[in-house]
Amino acid sequence: MRKNIVAGNWKMNNDLEASKLLIKNLLNEFPSKLDNTKRIIVAPTFVNLIPIVEMTKNTAIEVAAQNMHFAQSGAFTGEISASMLKGIGVNIVILGHSERRSMFNETDEILVKKVESALQNKMEIIFCFGEMLEERKAGNHFKVVEDQIKKALFNLNESDWKQIILAYEPVWAIGTGETASPDQAQEMHAFIRKIIAKKYSQELSNDVSILYGGSMKASNAKELLSNPDVDGGLIGGAALNADEFSAIIKSI
Ligand code: PGA
Repeated sequence: MRKNIVAGNWKMNNDLEASKLLIKNLLNEFPSKLDNTKRIIVAPTFVNLIPIVEMTKNTAIEVAAQNMHFAQSGAFTGEISASMLKGIGVNIVILGHSERRSMFNETDEILVKKVESALQNKMEIIFCFGEMLEERKAGNHFKVVEDQIKKALFNLNESDWKQIILAYEPVWAIGTGETASPDQAQEMHAFIRKIIAKKYSQELSNDVSILYGGSMKASNAKELLSNPDVDGGLIGGAALNADEFSAIIKSI
């Protein structure tokens, strides 16, 4: 079922103490479970996942990993697998973030394998994609987004889509303070829903949650989230501040 989701991608921020404090403050704001149309997700760094999973057990807050390797195990120094994440109670993973794509050479081919591994391990995936500024300026943004989704996800079965959350993150809006306008976000989200409906079905497409990411904050969240096809946000900078993040959650 399509849900309203606010997910915080903490990136390489917050040591253990800061992570616990942020969760404590969020739990003060949201002491009980939300109604089942809404979800709150946080993605701390790998080393802080275990204590945050512990702190958030039986609360409204769910925990995601920011990345994972596609292999189950093996000689991959410094990497972490889906089964290891599952083993500590992490059932959600962010894949395809633009920082992973641009700084860590994560290609569509690698993402296909990561998606497959996450699905096999029954993890939910927050799958990120989005165009760069030059691509938008050249009018190629729809094509770029369609290609990214097609390459990584259009080989999935209908039933796999129950484990997929999409996050449209125009690269030019990530961490720049520049946000897509509500119209730009809605236009792209409606396009995404259209191509999924064409490939699969209207019903499946209507069921997928599509988040917007890129400089979303308390002051612009309401407007962005009021769009019919924007089901939530993937938040970077503003997720590090309990008041900002809480205000965004209250906008869904
Ligand atoms: P930002 O990051 O909110 O700081 O722009 C979003 C993201 O990278 O997911």
